[in-house]
Amino acid sequence: MGQSSGCGQGHGNGGGVSANLAYTKFLFVMARLEDDAHGARLRTAGGNIARGFFNDFDIDDSRETQAQPFETIQFFVRDGELPEPEPTCVGPCLNKARHLVQISSKYRPRLQEIEEELRRRIGDAADVLALDGAARTPRYSSPEMVHYSNKGAPPRRSGRASRNAIIVPIRKTAEWWQKSPLERHAYFYPHVDESSACPVKGHAMTAERGIPALFRRVYHNPDGYAREGEFDFVTYFECEDEGLPVFDGVLQSLRDVQQNPEWQFVKEGPIWRGKRVLRW
Ligand code: HEM
Repeated sequence: MGQSSGCGQGHGNGGGVSANLAYTKFLFVMARLEDDAHGARLRTAGGNIARGFFNDFDIDDSRETQAQPFETIQFFVRDGELPEPEPTCVGPCLNKARHLVQISSKYRPRLQEIEEELRRRIGDAADVLALDGAARTPRYSSPEMVHYSNKGAPPRRSGRASRNAIIVPIRKTAEWWQKSPLERHAYFYPHVDESSACPVKGHAMTAERGIPALFRRVYHNPDGYAREGEFDFVTYFECEDEGLPVFDGVLQSLRDVQQNPEWQFVKEGPIWRGKRVLRW
């Protein structure tokens, strides 16, 4: 059995090392009928829930790197028709949602209130699916890794320039969570793969060409890992139009277990792709 199984509690806080620093909530809105009345109701609801939040659409990097505002909101709209489901996909079909909003706060109950308000205002015209996340300090990083993976990474830009958003919820297998934290650590670095005995790039180097093109965030399940029917992570990316093929290439490479054996323990959820917008 893995070293962390002794407590019999699953993996609540990653072995007690990481704590939730701030919370985020993605609210996916799946309309039952896309008519004018639904559009109008959604716009009003969006305007109402946005009150008191800083709108990240107009973010500039100076605010991101200096004083982080307490509460932020970002609206999104899916472009194009409903994508084909990914063959590898697990979990709810959140990629059916045309509208999405992300709200963030240090105070989790505030996000719950907004979710309830949105559900109440939208009524039975649409289904709302919520994915919760938490910001945590990196666990598998070293100063060298932070330097490597952030050097040349773009600052967060306004939604006018960096208008594309991609969300990939991810779950890791029981086998992953049975490994000790130090064993898991190795998968993010160049290392020798146990099964093939060959040197491999690992997660960060495999994804290297994404560094200058993608603004990225990993949110953790705030209630812990390996929870039945839930995702462990929600990954979030923003990029300019030219970054889209880079994202696709990076994801393809990460899926290649010859370069990145970590992915054999990954179950991807449905990918949601759309545009950041000022309002719905
Ligand atoms: C763009 C280049 C990328 C770089 C440089 C990069 C780098 C990293 C690093 C260094 C970590 C470890 C963080 C820690 O210490 O906790 C990490 C974690 C993670 N990354 Fe990436 N990544 C990239 C792209 C991606 C992409 C495209 C995905 C998925 C679509 C992804 C999914 C994840 C997930 C789920 C974790 C958390 C894994 C865990 O804690 O078990 N990354 N990434």
